[in-house]
Amino acid sequence: MSKYITTPIYYVNGEAHIGHAYTTFMADTLTRYEKLKGEDTYFLTGTDEHGQKIEESAQKNGKPTQEFADEISATFKNLWDEFGICYDQFIRTTDEDHKKGVQKAFEVMYAKGDIYKDFYEGHYCVSCETFFPETQLIDGEYCPDCGRSTSVIKEESYFFRLSKYENALLDHYSQNPDFILPRSRANEVINFVKGGLRDLSVTRTSFTWGVKMPESMHDEKHVMYVWLDALLNYITALGYGKDDAKMNYWPASTQFVGKDILRFHAIYWPAFLMSLDLPLPKQIGAHGWWTRDGEKMSKSKGNVIAPKEVADVYGAENLRYFMLREVPFGQDGDFSQRAFIDRINSELSNDLGNLLNRIIGMSGKYSEYEIDSVDVAKFHKKELDAMNSVLDSLDTYMENLQTHRYLEELWRVFAIGNKAIEEHAPWVKMKEEKKDEALATVALVANILAKASIMLSPVMPKITNVIADALNFKIDNSSYQELILDKKLLKLFNIKVVPPLFPRVEEPLMPEAPKAMLETKPKEEKKEVKAEKQEMDNLIEIGQFFETSLKVGVIVEAEEVPKSKKLLKLQVDLGEGTLRQVVAGIREYYEPQDLVNTQVCVVANLKPAKLMGMTSEGMLLAAKDEDGLCLVRPEKPKKAGTPIG
Ligand code: MSP
Repeated sequence: MSKYITTPIYYVNGEAHIGHAYTTFMADTLTRYEKLKGEDTYFLTGTDEHGQKIEESAQKNGKPTQEFADEISATFKNLWDEFGICYDQFIRTTDEDHKKGVQKAFEVMYAKGDIYKDFYEGHYCVSCETFFPETQLIDGEYCPDCGRSTSVIKEESYFFRLSKYENALLDHYSQNPDFILPRSRANEVINFVKGGLRDLSVTRTSFTWGVKMPESMHDEKHVMYVWLDALLNYITALGYGKDDAKMNYWPASTQFVGKDILRFHAIYWPAFLMSLDLPLPKQIGAHGWWTRDGEKMSKSKGNVIAPKEVADVYGAENLRYFMLREVPFGQDGDFSQRAFIDRINSELSNDLGNLLNRIIGMSGKYSEYEIDSVDVAKFHKKELDAMNSVLDSLDTYMENLQTHRYLEELWRVFAIGNKAIEEHAPWVKMKEEKKDEALATVALVANILAKASIMLSPVMPKITNVIADALNFKIDNSSYQELILDKKLLKLFNIKVVPPLFPRVEEPLMPEAPKAMLETKPKEEKKEVKAEKQEMDNLIEIGQFFETSLKVGVIVEAEEVPKSKKLLKLQVDLGEGTLRQVVAGIREYYEPQDLVNTQVCVVANLKPAKLMGMTSEGMLLAAKDEDGLCLVRPEKPKKAGTPIG
């Protein structure tokens, strides 16, 4: 069975914000997940370009409407391309084929007797492109949805017999309890329909920026109501009204919408489809709204977050991960910098990134990077069973669009991996000459990472490919079959050394105003000037500086020193063939496992010293202030032994 997944088409009156990005990420993730499972998918997104609102925005910007629409539509398309969104089609309602499809649908509905001509007098909200009965207005004037002022419009209009479909809609909701997800949202819709449906005005004569009436109607002064035009995009994209080329994808499997436009998708849209004798979508997934630090985002408050600005600073895939992990689908979510950074640091950097670093480090040390799953089942049956049961549970979460639960559960496999390392301590097994046991633990973790990468790939497609590449396999339907469904283990391979993939975010970088996001925070300048002055009194010749040999080192192993609260014993690769032992006073600031496979700057020509009876053959560069100590590291990964100077 094929899967057709859609996002709403976005209005072109302003550029994308994180609310739009969220819907698109959800749709992209679900599409990738279905593809992984081997489904034939079609993913549609695009822009909604007609209506009075767009016409007015173009005027405000002093541009012809089409030119304005072209420009904004391109910003959406470019953004999705930059984010690697795997859409199959980007539809624009100003596309000729779309317009023809809408006209065709109008003719079919008219021929069926579902459209008739009358007069309409009502309160119209331009911003929502909707009429509201007087009883719903706030203070008799303001729009109940957006609070803006409405205006009274009396015009000749064609009407769609929405009232005719009241019972059919109610039957559909009761027979298909998963038609609207989350189910909690269905009640709002059902109550609205039970309250009685009025026929819907589907044409306008008060403006011209819309799809024209079909010629067969001989009524040129009308243009289509923007919501009729817009909703039909989901089928015109498949060739409705032209050649039906892709209508085999209809009905859609999941249509994503925000809660504010659920009514249009769960009431009007199914009624239009019934009128066209087409099946209804299987599922309408309605998500909540994103707020910024608890407040509604709005241009006037200046707190609208542009997804690109966040992605430029923190990475597009980190943004995807955060949004999909943070909020239960259907509920409102808050975009706070603190929550974002915490998730990157603790979940991506610590739980996932460190696990990968650790097995790269250990396999390098114990088996020249060779990973063999041959003994995994013998020593780690408990862990394999636990991992498999987590992996088996994931499908239900994704099918119910609960990405936060999906990711939460998936993260349990990293905990299984980290615990196995602690419990089985491969470095101890190596000392006890139980190499097969040590290597089995390393291979267990490699398998955990491989399987988790497959399941994480719909959310983080690029970075999981890098992990898969390091683990010498490809993420696709066949690896999904083998490693996830058939529960096979990785074949013998050599792991590739990759630089740390999830660097920690060390300080909040995103100030309140997103525009300023890229500005670096000015540090206390006065202090720096003072320090500079002191150093002037203590100058050295350049030659003296070069007497110190500084090199990039890679920490291959790190362990605690018994009875010492301050020291860690490290084995550091300086590209010399053998490892150097460095005893460093950094125990209070670093966990040994967090250091493995990270890069450091080492003073390489110090005379060996003895610390607590252990030889130390180097010193790590570190910076310490009142906030604690941090190691000095190369900005980008460099080969072990690269000279610094
Ligand atoms: N053009 C219509 C949709 C027509 S679909 C046939 C439209 N466009 S929109 O650009 O205003 O909104 C597109 C989507 O973005 C909607 O699903 C809306 O819910 C969502 N969001 C707009 N602001 C949002 C947030 N602050 N948070 C989450 N989603 C939000 O409506």
